[in-house]
Amino acid sequence: TDEVEETPSPNALPTIPLFSDLPREAFIDLFERCPLRHFSQGAHVFEQGSHGDAFYVICEGSVRVFRYENGQRKDLAALTSGAFFGEMALLSGAPRMAAVESAVDGTMLLEISAPVLAELSRQHPQLAKALKKFCRERMLTNVMS
Ligand code: CMP
Repeated sequence: TDEVEETPSPNALPTIPLFSDLPREAFIDLFERCPLRHFSQGAHVFEQGSHGDAFYVICEGSVRVFRYENGQRKDLAALTSGAFFGEMALLSGAPRMAAVESAVDGTMLLEISAPVLAELSRQHPQLAKALKKFCRERMLTNVMS
């Protein structure tokens, strides 16, 4: 778990809907600048309540988002290739509202540090807007469930 993989060649990059409006060069640049991390089944990406310092995009595999409420595990979501997570702590400054674990062997996550995401959001306001929208919708889903 957690080893840094080689940057995929530009023609083998995954499809990430969140980044579909980014210029191709900015998208490739992101994969060159950010580590691609590998997780086996059950490995935790981060814990509920921890400090948020990065944002993750699923390049391969899937993860489960879960939290403990009154000592009971509650599964909030299953996310697969192309999805992302970890935006809430970065946007709000609050601790991680849930833990995330790899659901399968061979999950590959692009780890985008908080400063890199902030820079990207400044350069591409439509990306910042999309992130906020997802964050709001997920918060609402969790409150309603
Ligand atoms: P963060 O709080 O930083 O860390 C846990 C992450 O789980 C959170 O950001 C969101 O990215 C993600 N998350 C929380 N609730 C949901 C949900 N209902 N659907 C999908 N992702 C979620």
